[in-house]
Amino acid sequence: MSKYARITGWGKYVPERRLTNFDLEKMIDTSDEWIRTRTGIRERRIAAPGETCCSMSLASARQALAMAHLPPSDVELIIVATSTPDYLVPAVASMVQDRLGAGNAPAFSLQAGCTGWVYALVTASQFIQTGAYRNVLVIGTEHLSVGVDWTDRATCVLFGDGSGAVVLEASDQPTGLLSFDLGSDGSDYDALIFPGCAGVHPPSHDVINQRLHYLRMDGRRVFKFASRVLADSVRKVVIDSGLTIDDIALIIPHQANDRIIELARRRLKVPPEKMMVNIDRYGNTSAASIPLALVDALDEGRIQPGDRVVFVGFGAGLTWAAAAFHWEPQEPMSIPVLDWPVRERLAQPVARARTALWSARISLATKVEPLLLPLYGFAAGYRKRRKKE
Ligand code: ACO
Repeated sequence: MSKYARITGWGKYVPERRLTNFDLEKMIDTSDEWIRTRTGIRERRIAAPGETCCSMSLASARQALAMAHLPPSDVELIIVATSTPDYLVPAVASMVQDRLGAGNAPAFSLQAGCTGWVYALVTASQFIQTGAYRNVLVIGTEHLSVGVDWTDRATCVLFGDGSGAVVLEASDQPTGLLSFDLGSDGSDYDALIFPGCAGVHPPSHDVINQRLHYLRMDGRRVFKFASRVLADSVRKVVIDSGLTIDDIALIIPHQANDRIIELARRRLKVPPEKMMVNIDRYGNTSAASIPLALVDALDEGRIQPGDRVVFVGFGAGLTWAAAAFHWEPQEPMSIPVLDWPVRERLAQPVARARTALWSARISLATKVEPLLLPLYGFAAGYRKRRKKE
């Protein structure tokens, strides 16, 4: 029987510290007005010293696992999408696996810039649909505050830190991933790049002096590319799913710039309420932005069971990806991670007993009510007669 990959748990983490546009005005030659009107960003979150890609991933992953009622020891695969891991080697996914206590799970990191989480989601779905794994933990995390040049006003105002995670589980019911579109155009690889401290420019004083270890971006080139692929990729997955754009309840795009999102919205001819935008709160969190927007959309009640949603990302590579999903998670129940074994063992029989009691009451009532009806009639007539006397 074919398997379907549906999302059964989700979680997010953003650092406490907010860096507002007004804070940036004090650091570089910029203004709240310029940042807001060109990008839609009002503030972004910045990791505290000691907070890293690994620690942020753990925080969002624990929430997602708790919601899916999945103990870490039962996780079968972990994928972490990121461009800002703790170390170049090893993959941060292995560190997450260890600290989570997911001793039985293989783990790997996936790098596709801001598109990474959608690539990871689609990859995870393939493992489930082929029957290789029954569940996969898919995390998108970025620690971009360590990678941006805080003297470069063209990039540093754009980015922020955070993490989002989902649990994908196998289902026999036709739900979950409906279709996907993955793309890459490496001819523009240098439009968004960390040029230094790797193979082409190994670490050296020169590399550091030229600030090549920081992110460089040709904003206009990325803008043009993003405005083109975003709408095209959404349209493709909607058609491949046998749907029309009117069937889509919510589009969750990568949050790079609200002007890019608005352009795509107009091209797709969808009303503003069908386009998720939370860039004002977090800025561009690259691979974390779509799962963060998903969790915010759920918290705001913008996705209901049975809805179809589209995730769409674009970014370094240059890459793009979209995935259409039928949204049908299991009944969510937020319980602390540490309580799982006891709570879960108790919760199941209690829920079964409640259901049995409810159905017994209903069936008793339906059997007894018809027998009681003549009695009700007799009692009413008796009361009337007593009144007359
Ligand atoms: N504050 C004030 N002025 C600024 C700032 C700033 N922070 N940054 C740039 N400017 C100035 C420039 O110096 C320039 O001045 P000039 O005309 O005197 O030379 C002027 O503003 C216009 O600069 P542009 O770069 O042309 O501004 P633009 O309107 O293109 O907006 C932006 C720049 C916001 C970066 C835009 O190009 C964009 O959003 N591009 C897409 C970026 C993106 O999506 N990146 C993420 C990809 S995903 C990933 O994988 C990480």
